[in-house]
Amino acid sequence: MNFKKTADTLTKGAHTLERNFYTSSEILNKEYKNIFQSQWVCVGREEELTKVGQYKTINIGDESVIILRDENEVIRAHYNVCRHRGTRICIEKNGNFSKSIQCGYHGWTYALDGKLIGAPHMDSVENFNKNDYSLFPIQIKAWEGFIFINLSDDPEDFDHAFSPINERFSDWNISSLKTLETKTYEVKGNWKLVIQNYCECYHCPILHPELAAIHNYMGGRNDLFEGPFLGGYMDFNDGKDSITSNGELCCPPLPNIKEEDKKRVYYYSIFPNMLLSLHPEYVMYHTVWPISINRSIVTCSWLFEKEIIDSNDHKIQDAVDFWDMTNKQDWYISELSQLGIQSKKYSPAPYSGQESLLAAFDKHYKKIIN
Ligand code: FES
Ligand SMILES: [Fe+2]
Repeated sequence: MNFKKTADTLTKGAHTLERNFYTSSEILNKEYKNIFQSQWVCVGREEELTKVGQYKTINIGDESVIILRDENEVIRAHYNVCRHRGTRICIEKNGNFSKSIQCGYHGWTYALDGKLIGAPHMDSVENFNKNDYSLFPIQIKAWEGFIFINLSDDPEDFDHAFSPINERFSDWNISSLKTLETKTYEVKGNWKLVIQNYCECYHCPILHPELAAIHNYMGGRNDLFEGPFLGGYMDFNDGKDSITSNGELCCPPLPNIKEEDKKRVYYYSIFPNMLLSLHPEYVMYHTVWPISINRSIVTCSWLFEKEIIDSNDHKIQDAVDFWDMTNKQDWYISELSQLGIQSKKYSPAPYSGQESLLAAFDKHYKKIIN
């Protein structure tokens, strides 16, 4: 995204982060505690859990979460911790519970809504009441078809936290879109390098010649440039209509897109772990997860209208292939960044005018981490 002489100005003297933010496990533990276990984080799409009992698990540092659709079709999140002796209940990444969730140690059994419904031989225990031993619930919220959870015991109200972007993407009608494909990548780099890389196109001409042929890194404007939501749009070059291998639309544009938005791609980072890219005919999103100080898991998903996916009439796989190639270029350079930053000779250097969003990300990040 591009720097323009608007309110989006580079904070004076902004420098890249100090090395320990990319190398210290103490910092990583702080990030788990103060960010990933305290803020709203994106964990996927509602459409991943279509059937009653369908679940996925998400691990965040030492915490593990079961997200499922319960008997009343409500999507819920529970701590993956048995209320008997604390055992982690579910180790699969995803699957289906029949009607209940059973701990593999002594068989305590929970309804999908988290209530303890079976606890062998506990009847004889004085004052034991099953109602006191439900799985611990986790705050959960659906927004635009995405699922967000917040592990804080006192989470910020979601609607309040997301008010700057709440209605912003309604033209794309993202909640109605379906996932064509999700790819999962392991990146040998700190999670912040992945986000920071996404927040600038200064690197596009060198790293992404194919992408640079579609949009010029100087042609665009940021419209969110401080706080947890950062980003803006980039205009397509003349003769280009979308981000695909030939720069043409891979299917008709989404029905409610404004004329001006048919000439643009919008890129937003949603703190801490989501990247949202809106094209005229499809939406792409990433989730980014630290698994160690220098390793991240990144997912990337491509969303299209259901009828387009079902029709098989369009070359929509092209969008996946193009961005998969571009993703890999980004992961490659992020891994090299990690390696260089680990050197004793790395030290913070000034951000360029094209990197104002990175300075804004760092500022917001530092406010929370400190
Ligand atoms: S620890 Fe789960 S049933 Fe005992
Ligand atoms: Fe890139």
